[in-house]
Amino acid sequence: MCGIVAVFGKENASQIVLDGLKNLEYRGYDSWGVGTPGEGKVEIEKQIGKISEAILPDSFPQKTLAIGHTRWATHGGVTPENAHPHFNEEKQIAVVHNGIIENFVELRSELRGRGHVFFSDTDTEVLCHLMEEYIDDGKTLLEAAQCTANRCEGRFAFVVLHYGENCLVAVRRGSPLILGIGENGDAYLASDTPAFINHTQKIHYIDDGEIVYLEDSKITVHSLETLEPIEKREVTLDITPEDATKGSHAHFMIKEIYEQKDTIARATNQDSQEIEKIAEEISKARGTFLIGCGTAHKVAAAGEYFFSMIAKKHVNTAVASEFPIFHDFLRPESLIIAISQSGETADVIEAIEAARSVGSTVLSIVNSAGSTVARMSDFSLHIKAGPEKAVASTKAATSQLTVLLLLAYACAGKLDDGRKLMVDAASLVNDLVNPRFVEFVAGIAKEIADQNNIFIIGKGANFPMALESAIKIQEVSYIHAEGFAGGELKHGPIAMIEPGTPCLVLVSSNELQKKEILSNAMEIKARGGRIIGVSSENSEIFDDWIRVPEAGAANPILNLIPVQVLSYYLALERGFNPDMPRNLAKSVTVK
Ligand code: G6P
Repeated sequence: MCGIVAVFGKENASQIVLDGLKNLEYRGYDSWGVGTPGEGKVEIEKQIGKISEAILPDSFPQKTLAIGHTRWATHGGVTPENAHPHFNEEKQIAVVHNGIIENFVELRSELRGRGHVFFSDTDTEVLCHLMEEYIDDGKTLLEAAQCTANRCEGRFAFVVLHYGENCLVAVRRGSPLILGIGENGDAYLASDTPAFINHTQKIHYIDDGEIVYLEDSKITVHSLETLEPIEKREVTLDITPEDATKGSHAHFMIKEIYEQKDTIARATNQDSQEIEKIAEEISKARGTFLIGCGTAHKVAAAGEYFFSMIAKKHVNTAVASEFPIFHDFLRPESLIIAISQSGETADVIEAIEAARSVGSTVLSIVNSAGSTVARMSDFSLHIKAGPEKAVASTKAATSQLTVLLLLAYACAGKLDDGRKLMVDAASLVNDLVNPRFVEFVAGIAKEIADQNNIFIIGKGANFPMALESAIKIQEVSYIHAEGFAGGELKHGPIAMIEPGTPCLVLVSSNELQKKEILSNAMEIKARGGRIIGVSSENSEIFDDWIRVPEAGAANPILNLIPVQVLSYYLALERGFNPDMPRNLAKSVTVK
């Protein structure tokens, strides 16, 4: 949600910033902007529209430092004025910012009272005017950034550029910020690593309450509170520049769907001792909460079924943004299992903070090993799916499900069985993501792309998968889609079924659940619904049969894959870019 990039100590810094922003497009694509020192002021180019189509004018200065931003609008509409970087009246100072400054209204009126003129509706702009005041008071850029951050409430990260000084300052308090260290004194700051992966793989994760100072060959990190220097640990990234590209695929979404051939196997390949140790924590916890947002929440809900059915262990599931309701039930002996692809989702972070404040144990299941969520956890399992750049989560979801299934088996004392199940399931994914199968599903998408409604039903762990399927269809094709537990349809939603309404039926491999969901499908068919069975066996009830291989307890995971493919082709049929759904961003770092 908003991407910030800064480059220091490299020729053509503005162009490198722009290229880096293009790799962060999944964080927001409402508008973009780049700033670099110019003659007597900061030179700024900013426009509304997608960063992927952005080009800097030939006349734009190419110096050795620059900052940039790709925006997902929170405060203020999508206008050129509200695009970042923002600046003070004289354009001496420019700022890019990710997150929210909660007290910006008070700060703005205070600053206006002292004569400052505002050019945008954003919360960010207060940072520029506060910086200006502190610099006018004789503070250094580093001190001014410290004072500015101390005036602001909320979660944020920002980078400041002053036209007359050959340095950059960046602050982190609640929003992600990563420092990349180049070979020749060059340095990079960004919300996520794909922004600079082409330049360095050596990074420092900046923590909350830290401030970064880049000047000549001096790269220092300080405490935001005291400005004392902090020693950081260098980490080498295990992603390559190729991981962050589309390769031969038209979109990241389909690339990532295809990657599930490998990613499920990689997620299965967890360290046995670690899984057993975590399973012990789960078994001994008194009150376990599985939490996540969006797709990760649907994964958590499936986890509840896995633990119940496989380990006979009751766990609670909550949407992270609703978790405050349950804070009173947290105890030192409770366990939170936080699921997050990015590891940066604000509501998830808040839930972890609540758990930590009472001494509960925190386990996270993340795709970004150095993320905030991972670093706040007592235990963290890495799903190893590689960068997921399409806004719609696909490979991360199936990998998260895989890890939860393994944990459920480990809690039941049967980790080896779980591992074998998932190794077999991973090998079956080839049957699902091959051109012939994909073409078949694309054919169904073509036939139903003009529908207003699509329903999805499932039973057992396929119920949360039906909810996840609905999200996939909604977010990329904008068709109204809803997922239900099969038995619930007749309590209301069946009234929506008209002749031809598509209904996807996610059939379980459990015999009883299979029988029941097929009987629910029959009720829909009797009202004229078009039954699209996602199943290992055909049935006379199905109008269309999407065949998935029989995968036993891993069946809900495999059932999801054809729906991902269907969603992708529904988006294409309707003329939408599935990688950039309207109004959405991938990493939701604001509440
Ligand atoms: C956004 C994304 C979803 C994702 C959710 C949670 O809404 O569009 O795909 O499931 O955030 O993100 P997380 O990184 O915490 O899994």
